[in-house]
Amino acid sequence: MIVLGIESTCDETAASIVKNGCEVLSNVVASSADLHAKYGGVFPEHSSRRHIESIVPVVREALKIAAVTPDQIDLIAVAKGPGLVGPLLVGMQFAKGLSIAWNKPLVGINHVEAHLYAAMMDAPLLFPAIGLVLSGGHTLLVKINDVGSYERIGTTVDDAIGEAFDKVAVLLGLPYPGGPHVEALALQGAPTFPLKPGKIKNRPLDFSFSGLKTSVLYAVKGQNGKTPKELNPQEKAQLAASFQETAFQDILQKTKLALQQYPSRALYLGGGVCNNKRLKTLFGEAFPDLPIFFPAPALTLDNGAMIAGLAHHKSTASESLDLEVKTRIPLGDLV
Ligand code: KG4
Ligand code: ZN
Repeated sequence: MIVLGIESTCDETAASIVKNGCEVLSNVVASSADLHAKYGGVFPEHSSRRHIESIVPVVREALKIAAVTPDQIDLIAVAKGPGLVGPLLVGMQFAKGLSIAWNKPLVGINHVEAHLYAAMMDAPLLFPAIGLVLSGGHTLLVKINDVGSYERIGTTVDDAIGEAFDKVAVLLGLPYPGGPHVEALALQGAPTFPLKPGKIKNRPLDFSFSGLKTSVLYAVKGQNGKTPKELNPQEKAQLAASFQETAFQDILQKTKLALQQYPSRALYLGGGVCNNKRLKTLFGEAFPDLPIFFPAPALTLDNGAMIAGLAHHKSTASESLDLEVKTRIPLGDLV
């Protein structure tokens, strides 16, 4: 089965052709991060306009690279949410238009489920498993019973982990998106600042990153009106390393707990924060005997391949053209 996947939930306009759920024939991504870097974050209206400009060339390029013609496509898959409404609508309306014009079935895909599927695309499917989504908009621990069958066991009560990285980057004077810059700076310092991870009473598998972010704010800008001495570059590196280490140790401890509570055959991770090498090392060292699967580097950030790949596992009966985008999808309803 050949699927065209379209992704436009946030700041990437992406399209991909995937065969049989795992063979990526093309994976084209146009990011508007350059535009958002000017403002230190995503402005939905700017992002929507970029999607409108990019979607036709991106889909054309995906078909061209895959050497696939529209008549060879069996299914059109589009990210239906969660995400920003303007960006989502661009992808959805375009996918509906193609579905009518090419007379192909259409399926809506949950973007968060697709991030998790990215790690399963070229990996053995070993269930039950634990899934961990670490992205700009989501932080989620799930028990995976099968592709399409999940139980949410932990989430964040405030910031997502990628969002925390991006906000800490702003505090440290680093560009958007901040994650890779915080990682690079952290390599130059030791984690010597005493920072505490967020804990939620009676909910040991849930996350909170806003307190940690505020501790970084205080370290940079002072607390209770007191202005600290300006941090020198070495201290900034130590602060970046301390933030990263505290956040990752917290995620690691909660994942360990999840694995104790829900015996699992594997761990699958997804989302942009999976690009972080320290995260990979920590998890690799912590679970030497457990199969751990990260997405291929091209599939960690937002992309159309994870959308097209996951669609292979969904019904090919076309969804109605009434299919709506959803800015939020209850996290328990991952599908
Ligand atoms: O999965 P993604 O595209 O976001 C959502 O769908 O929400 O991931 C983007 C996030 C950003 O917050 C970015 O700062 C973070 O992933 N990120 C990283 C790294 N690379 C990207 N965070 C930490 N370390 C990295 N190397
Ligand atoms: Zn994403």
